[in-house]
This record gives sequence, structure tokens and C-alpha cells, in this order.
Amino acid sequence: MLILGIESSCDETGVALYDTQAGLLSHALYSQVALHAEYGGVVPELASRDHVQRVIPLIQQVFKTANRKLADLEGIAWTAGPGLLGALLVGAGVARALAYALHIPAIGVHHMEGHLLAPMLEENPPSFPFVALLVSGGHTMIVAVEGIGRYQVLGETLDDAAGEAFDKTAKLLGLGYPGGPEVSRLARQGQSGIYRFPRPMVDRPGLDMSFSGLKTYVLNTWEKEKAAGNDDLQTKANICRAFEEAVADTLVIKCRRTLKQTGWHRLVVSGGVSANTTIRRRLQAVAEDAGGQAYFPRLEFCTDNGAMIAYAGAQRLLAGQKNDLDFSARARWPLESLPPL
Ligand code: KG4
Ligand code: ZN
Repeated sequence: MLILGIESSCDETGVALYDTQAGLLSHALYSQVALHAEYGGVVPELASRDHVQRVIPLIQQVFKTANRKLADLEGIAWTAGPGLLGALLVGAGVARALAYALHIPAIGVHHMEGHLLAPMLEENPPSFPFVALLVSGGHTMIVAVEGIGRYQVLGETLDDAAGEAFDKTAKLLGLGYPGGPEVSRLARQGQSGIYRFPRPMVDRPGLDMSFSGLKTYVLNTWEKEKAAGNDDLQTKANICRAFEEAVADTLVIKCRRTLKQTGWHRLVVSGGVSANTTIRRRLQAVAEDAGGQAYFPRLEFCTDNGAMIAYAGAQRLLAGQKNDLDFSARARWPLESLPPL
């Protein structure tokens, strides 16, 4: 079954062609990072307008690369939520119109299910059940995954998402957008142990997290250093290092606790923040300590992409699930409300 995947929930237009027998045939991505950079964050209306311009050429590109025709297509998977509504509606319009015109089924995919299943596109995919840590710019959650659509959210952030904390830290320090890659790059030059930031909510039982307090520590530390005349790059790097270690430690403690609680030993880590090398290394160690292994998407599929949407949608379409044409985009959409396969 040949499936076209379309992702347009935020600031990346991602398109992919996935064949349920041959695997991923082609994928293409347009990132709007440069467009939003001068505003220091995503401007929703600009994002929607840009998706409108990019999506059709990207679709043409993936067909060309895979040497397939529109007439070969057997299903369409598009991100239906959660995300920016105007941005989602661009993918919704294109996907449903194509499905209608080609008389093929379409399915609206949950963006976080896409992230959660992204490691399935790799050579050594995890088998069920597994614990999934989803760490993106909009979400941070720990999910018990017994199968596709069999999700129990065991813990989540009570305030900022982990990626959001990276982005806000970058903004406070006057670094570029998005902040994650910038902060982690500087953190590598930073010295450990200069500052000690708190590990929020690790002393309490449970698996919920909180990251909003960290930015106050970043702000206060930076203001204090600046007042003392230390407004140099090395000081910024040391702060980035302390911040990254605090986030990594928090995720490590919560994941270790989850593996213990579930008795499972496979850990999937996905979403934009899973591109962070320190966090990857630390979480791999957690899974190995539990007698298992951690599974990550390849770096380019950690952040938003069309391939993960095509894959997730393909599994559901293969199982006979589809949505009617009146199924529309939704800004909010609880992961646990998805039907099992
Ligand atoms: O999954 P994603 O592309 O979009 C959402 O669904 O939100 O994640 C984007 C987030 C941004 O907050 C970005 O700063 C963060 O992932 N990110 C990183 C790294 N690369 C991207 N955070 C930490 N370290 C990185 N290397
Ligand atoms: Zn995402």
C-alpha cells in the first residue's frame, strides 16, 4: 500500500511517501525556521501562509524522487492535530481534496503518535510494550505503549514542555531560534559544576514534570553575572551546561522510575529534544541499566517530518481505519482518545 504523509502542524512542512512493503521511499521537508527567527518564535499566520506555498511542490518532489505517480497512491495520512489550527488546516485541505479526487482513503494522524512511532522507521525497531518519552517543543510526556493506539499517559509536564524550556533559555541568553540546538551546542563548551539548577519535582513521587522554574534560574543567574561584568560567551556556555544537565537529570530520574514501575525495559525517546546528544546518551544508559535498550529516531526524524506521519497513518489504513471527509483538524486532541488498532 502506497501512502502519502503530510505534516503541517507547526513550522515545518513535511511530506513523505511510504510503502507498507518497501518502506520509506522518499521524504522532503521545508523548515520555516528562517521565517520565524526574527520574531523569536513561531508566528501562526505566517506559518499557515508558508505551508500553503510549500506543500504542493513538496508533494511533487517526493513523487519524482520515488519515481511514482499520483495514480499509484493508495492512501493519505495527514496530521490532524494537535497543533496550530491554521497550519493544520492547510494539510487537511490538501489531503482530503486529494483523497476525494483519487477515490482513496485518508486518515487524520495524531502528531504525537507520529513522534511515538518514528523509531519504527529505523533498522532495529522496538517491539511492544515500551515506555515512550515524548519531548518536543509543545509536549513532554511519558507514555506506556502496549500497541498502536493503546496509550496510557503516565506523566507529563505541568507547565512548559522540555523543548519550550530550551527555546526560552536561548531567548533569555540572546541565542538564536529554535533554542534547542543553540543551547546544546553552547553547553558542550560549558563547564560543569559552576552552577547548580534544581531538578524540579524529582523528590515527589509520580511521573509528572515541570520545566518552567528553570528559566527563572537561567534569568537570575544571567542577570547576576551581567551585573558583575561577566557577560561573556563562556558564562553563557556555563549556564547552558547547568540548564541542560538539569533537564537531562530530570528526564533520567523520571524514565528510570517509569521503567521500574512498569517492569518494562524498552525506552523510546522521540520529539525534537531527542536530537540532543547528551540526553540521548544519558537515556540510553537508563534503558541499559534496566536490562534493555533505548530507541531513537534518526536525527532528522526527531523533529517534525512527514515520514513519521506516513508511517503512523499507514498502520491504521492497513488495519482498515480511515476518516470521513468531514473529519477535520483539531488544535487539542488527547492521545489517549485514539482508537486501538
Ligand atoms: O518535535 P518538534 O520538531 O516540534 C514539536 O512538535 O514541538 O520539536 C521542536 C523542539 C524545539 O523546542 C527545539 O528547541 C527542540 O525541539 N530541539 C532541541 C534540540 N533540537 C531541537 N532541544 C534540545 N536539544 C536539541 N539538540
Ligand atoms: Zn513535533
